[in-house]
Amino acid sequence: MKALWEVLSPGGEEWALAQSLDPARLPGHIAVIMDGNGRWASRRNLPRAAGHKAGVEAVRETVETCARLGLQALTVYAFSVENWKRPRTEVDTLWRLLRIYLRKELPNLQRNGVRLAAVGRVDGLPDGVRRELLAAVEATSSNTGLKVNMAINYGGRAELVDAVNAILERARKAGTLDGLRVDEEAVAAHLYTAGLPDPDLLIRTSGEMRVSNFLLWQIAYAEIYVTDTLWPDFRRIDLLRAIADYQKRERRFGGVTKTAPAVRS
Ligand code: IPE
Ligand code: IPE
Ligand code: MG
Repeated sequence: MKALWEVLSPGGEEWALAQSLDPARLPGHIAVIMDGNGRWASRRNLPRAAGHKAGVEAVRETVETCARLGLQALTVYAFSVENWKRPRTEVDTLWRLLRIYLRKELPNLQRNGVRLAAVGRVDGLPDGVRRELLAAVEATSSNTGLKVNMAINYGGRAELVDAVNAILERARKAGTLDGLRVDEEAVAAHLYTAGLPDPDLLIRTSGEMRVSNFLLWQIAYAEIYVTDTLWPDFRRIDLLRAIADYQKRERRFGGVTKTAPAVRS
């Protein structure tokens, strides 16, 4: 997390929070459900689009902070397969903002060594958006720093269905369909996030206590952190608060704690 100190100023809560963190126990992979853009806007009597626009700055800051912390991966939920239910104008605004983000942020992503990836049904995106997204993925493909997964046209159930179909297709081509059995490794290897460790920490903004079809398989043992802060207000300090909270958790993965005796003696 050396690079983080370059942008923090001594004194204040942010500095104290950063100092309280154990660099050896940072989450390797953080996943974020970026929620509350609409409410941020309506509280200001602004159109929902203004909330989405303000949310872009929170994405920028979160990506940079995770890169400076030296994390392995950040997965952000930008558009769900269910978000197509929204009015056409709102959906169009989201695509426009995504394209602006990609164009504007590419130099910063490169400078921070970020490798961009798209997770979701990329084929279902409007042509221009898909092309620009894949171009940014390609342009950052040899970077070796933080991997940023943009979950776009993403659904956890859709991902599992796609994984199962990919397994079937591969077996059909190999002629091994007869008697095929699938195990956890095979499913994990066909997810959009194949090869990445599961998220250690799942953050959801705007106080909603649900997962909304995000990374259903991968969050099996993620620590969940929900903040009332609305996404456009989410700053570096909020991310540090979430990580500090994460470091207080005891992760048991179904086992027992090392410190407590198994039976009373
Ligand atoms: C999250 O904010 C952004 C997307 C889902 C694209 P919302 O647009 O869901 O904001 P709220 O939940 O209506 O406040
Ligand atoms: C989840 O937020 C999807 C994204 C953040 C992109 P939603 O606002 O769509 O979720 P619900 O509808 O409140 O569950
Ligand atoms: Mg929402």
